[in-house]
Amino acid sequence: MKYFLFLILFTVVAQVGNSQSGHDIYINYCIACHDQKLEGGRAPSLLEAKWKYGQSKKAMRKSISEEIPGTEMMPWKNMLTDKQIDTVEDNLISLKRKKG
Ligand code: HEC
Repeated sequence: MKYFLFLILFTVVAQVGNSQSGHDIYINYCIACHDQKLEGGRAPSLLEAKWKYGQSKKAMRKSISEEIPGTEMMPWKNMLTDKQIDTVEDNLISLKRKKG
């Protein structure tokens, strides 16, 4: 019985972890520099039509996973899983599209 309860608890916790959206990840890790509305502050706006380091998802992965040398943008691969980076990227891309 104890084992069964543990299993249920584990499943719930695992699902909460999985349901973390790109928005949540952004709020947790990116907002301090890129601003709540992605308009920038300490860092450039992420709503610009043209990003400095490229528009493709591959270019973005490099900016986010690896560091951008000489700037405050650190290698997020040390902090986030591949899946989390993927999710936050999709979120940023869709927000950029919305802005047009
Ligand atoms: C400590 C401050 C800081 C945090 C936190 C931060 N960034 Fe940045 N980020 C920067 C700075 C500064 C730059 C600009 C580097 C430059 O212009 O050379 C940047 C650049 C970028 C770029 C490239 C933009 C372009 O024009 O090509 C992307 C994409 C990006 N950040 C995404 C993120 C994401 C996603 C997170 C959260 C996981 C995040 N950043 C967290 C400081 C930060």
